[in-house]
Amino acid sequence: MNLKEMISELTLEEKASLCSGGDFWHTKAVERLGIPAIMVSDGPHGLRKQDLKADHLGINKSIVGVCFPTGSALACSFDRELARQVGQALGRECQAENVAVLLGPAVNMKRSPLCGRNFEYFSEDPYLAGELAASQIEGVQSQGVGTSVKHFAANNEEYRRMTSSSNIDERTLHEIYLLPFETAVKKSQPWTIMCSYNKINGTYASENHRLLTEILRNKWGFDGLVVSDWGAVNRRDAGLAAGLDLEMPSSDGMNDAVIVQAVKSGTLSEKDLNRAVERILRVVFHSTEKKHEEVFDRDADHELTRQTERECAVLLKNEQNILPLNPKQKIAFIGKFAKEPRYQGGGSSHINSYQVTGALESAKEIANVTYAQGYDIVDDGINQTLLREAVEIAKSADVAVVFAGLPATFESEGCDRTHMGMPACQNVLIEEVCKVQPNTVVVLHNGSPVEMPWVSLPKGILELYLGGEAVGAAAVDLLFGFANPCGRLAETFPLKLSDNPSYLFYHSKNGEADYREGIFVGYRYYDKKKMPILFPFGYGLSYTTFTYSYLTVSSKEIDDTDTLNVSVRVKNTGSVAGKEVVQLYVHEMESAVIRPEKELKGFEKVALVPGEEKEVSFRLDKHTFAYYNTDLQDWHVETGAFELCIGKSSREIVLRETIAVRSTTKTCPHFTMDTPMYEVLGNPYAAPIARELIALCDFGSDHNNGENSLGESTASMMEAMTRELPIHAVCSFATKKISRKDLEEAVDRMNDAQS
Ligand code: GLC
Repeated sequence: MNLKEMISELTLEEKASLCSGGDFWHTKAVERLGIPAIMVSDGPHGLRKQDLKADHLGINKSIVGVCFPTGSALACSFDRELARQVGQALGRECQAENVAVLLGPAVNMKRSPLCGRNFEYFSEDPYLAGELAASQIEGVQSQGVGTSVKHFAANNEEYRRMTSSSNIDERTLHEIYLLPFETAVKKSQPWTIMCSYNKINGTYASENHRLLTEILRNKWGFDGLVVSDWGAVNRRDAGLAAGLDLEMPSSDGMNDAVIVQAVKSGTLSEKDLNRAVERILRVVFHSTEKKHEEVFDRDADHELTRQTERECAVLLKNEQNILPLNPKQKIAFIGKFAKEPRYQGGGSSHINSYQVTGALESAKEIANVTYAQGYDIVDDGINQTLLREAVEIAKSADVAVVFAGLPATFESEGCDRTHMGMPACQNVLIEEVCKVQPNTVVVLHNGSPVEMPWVSLPKGILELYLGGEAVGAAAVDLLFGFANPCGRLAETFPLKLSDNPSYLFYHSKNGEADYREGIFVGYRYYDKKKMPILFPFGYGLSYTTFTYSYLTVSSKEIDDTDTLNVSVRVKNTGSVAGKEVVQLYVHEMESAVIRPEKELKGFEKVALVPGEEKEVSFRLDKHTFAYYNTDLQDWHVETGAFELCIGKSSREIVLRETIAVRSTTKTCPHFTMDTPMYEVLGNPYAAPIARELIALCDFGSDHNNGENSLGESTASMMEAMTRELPIHAVCSFATKKISRKDLEEAVDRMNDAQS
């Protein structure tokens, strides 16, 4: 029986019931027709599956899983293949545990460092987030398990996440907040998309037809299933009509009855209901077809989390090559995170981890390491005894390594941070240790940027983010040089919170979150304003060095329908093997619209042994140069010059090349009586009509010669007047009578001339 026949066999009540969960984690079954229930579970960086009958809140204990580096750490790898490998492992785990869909990846943009869930998210850059998400989705789905890209869309604060409206202009919405979803949909066809709790421009995501149907399906071609975030449904019938297929968790039949009633009363078309049921059944049976035996190899996956974190950690500072450490040195490990690392965040992504390794236990296997707790996790207060003990061991060591960062209470799902600082006790500890021990390294565990008032004091800083259950072992691998740090920051670290572009507007007021910074998120803002920052997007050091040369392009002139091949050579000029992340940014030299100074449009990670040189290539297309044109409701490339910038970070561009791009899209601006003359003069089809009108005007031409009351700049002022003149004002300067009606006819001719 095919799906259409099956749907025709289902009663109205059965169809309605299929559109909501059977319990917190399962869809509903219809035994008489052989429709099974399938299970979904969180993600995104480990399997959180409840082993007993799920409680109605889905928070009782989950099975032992393996906690991978969180999205904030994985993004720093800038490595699509690694993201794919992590996805494959997660897919195998789901297969082994009969989970049909993994609820992730989470791709919301990092609009502010204050968002409590930033640890789960990838980046401030939509290109990087979309690329990594697409790869991770491919990895999971290659194992016959679905994904649920979340949270669609613009869920960028936890404060009032279930009721506030993210108010975003159309261009910003597409260029920043929707782009990671668009990339994921077009590149990797996720089985499902999870709609967010919040409203977008006043309409709940769960009943937002523009979002769930016009954009997601009609424009992007998504043909999977849209599932609500848990409890995100407002009006079930409106949601179904808008494109929300599956309500989770179960509404115990309440909303099923709403659907039945709406169909019976004619306010909801049964066609819409059948469409939703078909999408749900397609996922159910696709997953059933893909079901196969798999082993959950926790040891292998634990090792993979360690290898992964080694690729993610970012070396922020390494003065006098204090790193890597020598095991023969007398080394002091300070800070409770050395023993009990913070490696994941709180909320629905929290994994019942298989094996957590602390740096201290790992280091003791290879070096003579002393330890002091340094601070209390439970509160911010300074414990003088702990502080004194820490200073003592730092003083008597050759090197002190302070393990610090954000406690679980500082960031989590469900609540945002209130500031960008670390606990005061930790800041004091770092300062006091540095006073007695010039050879100090700070190791950070945080899901989002922190202020570092002490940044000038330690010689080394290693950023781990929330690096998964093996973060301690990975940290030791990196600190002692068994691995060479090769992560790059996937978000800017501003000097202070008030430097962040969303600072003035962040946190919704009266349920309205106004994204007034527009497209200027992250480095798009800091770089355009040339602001001083703590560490830039794309930044990260290595134990070796790299040089770049031979930037070449396949053509210096292209149409926007062409692809352009760009290549550059990278050489390891140091003494140890390492990996470099080659970043390609694009800068439009002159634009009719406001654009960021540069945007990331390519990245490749390359491994090189000392002395080795490789060529890194990029294939660029229309998306490389385009901005979202709201008149066209599409991505659009302007004709003009574009600078290709090869960088080690957004602030360190090492090679540049300029190319000319021709637009093949005829834009038909709609002229009105308010259109200034220069816009019409710039349009080849309408310019002759503009010239006719200008010829009628006299801006005091005799004033151009000799003395007049306008002064020396008369001619240039007259020229500016002509350019800026709105069409309706021609009658004020025409030497012969011309009516408004005449001008309106002229405007019609200008618009007709383009067709
Ligand atoms: C939560 C989260 C979502 C998660 C879901 C199921 O509220 O927002 O990311 O997948 O509910 O736990």
